Amino acid sequence: MSKRTIIEPFRIKSVEPIKVNTREERVNLLETAKLNVFKLRAEDVLLDWLTDSGTGAMSSAQWAAIMLGDESYAGAKSFYKLKEVLADVTGMEHFIPTHQGRAAEKVLFGAVCKKGDIIPNNCHFDTTRGNLEFLEVEAVDLVIKEGLQPSTIHPFKGNIDLERVEELLKKESGRIPFGMITITNNTGGGQPVSMANIREYSQLLKKYNKPLIMDVCRFAENAMFIKMREPGYEQKSIKEICRETFSYADGATMSAKKDGMVNIGGFIVLRTDQWLDNVREMLILSEGFITYGGMAGRDLEALAVGLQEGMDEDYLRYRLRTAEYLGERLEAVGIDFVKPTGGHAVYIDAKSVLPDMPIEQYPAWSLCNALYIEGGIRSVEIGSVMFGKRLPDGTETYHSMELVRLAFPRRMYTQSHFDFAAETIAELKANAKKIRGVRITKQAQFLRHFTAEFNWV
Ligand code: F0G
Repeated sequence: MSKRTIIEPFRIKSVEPIKVNTREERVNLLETAKLNVFKLRAEDVLLDWLTDSGTGAMSSAQWAAIMLGDESYAGAKSFYKLKEVLADVTGMEHFIPTHQGRAAEKVLFGAVCKKGDIIPNNCHFDTTRGNLEFLEVEAVDLVIKEGLQPSTIHPFKGNIDLERVEELLKKESGRIPFGMITITNNTGGGQPVSMANIREYSQLLKKYNKPLIMDVCRFAENAMFIKMREPGYEQKSIKEICRETFSYADGATMSAKKDGMVNIGGFIVLRTDQWLDNVREMLILSEGFITYGGMAGRDLEALAVGLQEGMDEDYLRYRLRTAEYLGERLEAVGIDFVKPTGGHAVYIDAKSVLPDMPIEQYPAWSLCNALYIEGGIRSVEIGSVMFGKRLPDGTETYHSMELVRLAFPRRMYTQSHFDFAAETIAELKANAKKIRGVRITKQAQFLRHFTAEFNWV
């Protein structure tokens, strides 16, 4: 393999200027936003790495496809085009469009689950868990133990622990309508799941007569990891790997805002018509008619093209390299992060930058703020603001990890942006003593990180 730089495999046809504010302006902007980067205006952010969801750049082929959108209420041409693309990749006949991933979850779970059920998964994403818990269904995370250890190197940290799955199946089979697996495992750091694990999980579920539903937001990134890391897959094409992955599933939900390479969209696919009538009924109630769900005809067209572009091997090699590259630069200056780097993001361990900051001052949140002030970079805290709680007696609970997630929009930023970020983070570590902690002045009872307000300590 050539040792030369893996380049962005595209050139730029249309640009969107980003505004460079001064440090002083950013301090004022952040203070106006109550020290919460969610409340900033996007135009005041230089590198917006809050999420990889729906934030990427579409290709010229996708923009061209937009003009072909058939906006008919029922039976649109665009629906059939996308259905064909999906059948080709997933091997599944039934395609149910939704406006994004959580809508697919709501519709499927609403049609199939009932109060008291249990769903095993490697890790449920928060909307997946939320939609299940809303129905009083228990969402059980059974990722392998390495998946919970940030610095342990393992090629497939997203794997599900099959022994614990079997234990659960033995004890609670009657309460489990299906098993789930999330590829890649976002909650665990964008970590991949191996083909062997997927295969064995599906066989185990089959033994207990349970279907396997996959959350496939980042199925193409997962396939590339399999190609690079799993013996026997080196010579296979991404499409072959994706097809084999889907061959073990009975259905899937997807937020197309990730590997679908679009700004909005999602779907459910199902192999058989067992749940189809119930699913369609739920769909019509909340999303729309069965041939458009929550999507415009033009969105269906852009997705039909995007799904294929998302499986391009050169693109995926560059995509995974981006995160790995930033990881190498952080490693060189002694900053810890979830290892190995995942597909769509780098998760920095804030304690390695701010070892002396007490947990009561929310180190990961404070590092997010510092990243914005010093570099105009917007990231997201995955720590004690997101997962901690203020109890009725006024005391706080804290999260076991203080992570800062930098999630990368697809085909948006170039290597110099990543160099700039690495330099900013290295400077922050060198001047860590100057980074100020925060305290919460106002918070909501649920999902407080989105709206909480803070003061400097
Ligand atoms: N499942 C996974 C694994 C996800 O990462 C997400 C979204 C969803 C489901 C829900 O999809 O947003 O289209 O409704 N993840 C985004 C993120 C929001 O920032 O990680 P959605």
